[in-house]
Amino acid sequence: METVVSGIRSTGKLHLGNYYGAIQNFVKMQHQFNCYFFIADLHSLTTHPTPADLHGHVKHVLVEYLAAGIDPEKATIYVQSDVPEIAELYLYMNMNAYMGELERSTSFKDKVRANPDNVNAGLLTYPVLMAADILIHKATKVPVGKDQEQHLEMARTFGNRFNRLYNNEYFPEPYAFNFSENLIKIPGLDGKGKMGKSEGESNAVYLSDSPEVIRKKVMRAVTDAGPTAENQEKPSEIQNLFDLMKVVSTPDTVEHFDNLYNKCQIRYGDLKKQLAEDMIVATAPIRERIDAIANDAPYLRQVARYGAAKARESAQKTIREVREIIGFKVF
Ligand code: TYM
Repeated sequence: METVVSGIRSTGKLHLGNYYGAIQNFVKMQHQFNCYFFIADLHSLTTHPTPADLHGHVKHVLVEYLAAGIDPEKATIYVQSDVPEIAELYLYMNMNAYMGELERSTSFKDKVRANPDNVNAGLLTYPVLMAADILIHKATKVPVGKDQEQHLEMARTFGNRFNRLYNNEYFPEPYAFNFSENLIKIPGLDGKGKMGKSEGESNAVYLSDSPEVIRKKVMRAVTDAGPTAENQEKPSEIQNLFDLMKVVSTPDTVEHFDNLYNKCQIRYGDLKKQLAEDMIVATAPIRERIDAIANDAPYLRQVARYGAAKARESAQKTIREVREIIGFKVF
């Protein structure tokens, strides 16, 4: 059975981008593969190092994983820092990751641009830690959104380089995975790029947002003055709303508003109202479970401990073999 690994950074609440780009696939994949889903708290230290926030953020992701339907009996759910073998593999992988390739990574360049005062080595070697996350369980499928594609390419590079250096076929090649052919990029509400935690509070719709908050955010989404000719190409901010509609609404609803747009009869207020209601329906079951699970501390503790033990078993096996391949010997 193929092995699957994926994780989400503990930097706050999860949004629709995380859900449709990643978690929705986690839930489906747990029935078919040997799955490891973790909370990337080590990765979050590159940008979110406040001790008082750390545990709460980790808890958010754990609760939302469970609320979205990941079953701890089917998939192994764990906190990254509970598996120190990952940090050990990261150290080894750093020995054959090169400055030049790390500096060229798009996400590194974005982070430097966004915050030039905090260009730490953890940011530079972020893709190496991510490769260690994946290679520690020798995974081949990694369910992620479009923004992680380059990181997967780097994980393959580092794994293959290790294999070449030590003249073996130890690590298999991991690939980004989505059930449909293409990886997904869920747009935000600001009319520009993707939905993201760092793109501003009102750009993202969170799984835990109340119906009132969702309505307010969607009604404020950026639009233009409306089409001026029939069958006009949609500007990006309007296309974004249609793209969001494609994930939460029925094909009939999308077609209805598409026809109105093409005939220059669209009223953006109506489109937004429908979009908000469909988002509310799509997130309702998760939102309801979030509240129930968040207050069940013994259950959360049990899930995290059980998952950490299972993940460590797999990670320890890899580290034992990797140490042997590298040439460490016990005296
Ligand atoms: P993170 O925490 O930024 O995002 C978690 C997952 O959500 C997806 N995602 C999106 N997908 C579609 N549209 C969006 N707007 C959107 N925003 C976020 C991301 O693609 C991701 O799948 N580096 C990773 C965490 C990580 C990881 C790993 C993932 C650490 N180690 C090993 C896989 C395997 C990250 O920053 O995700």
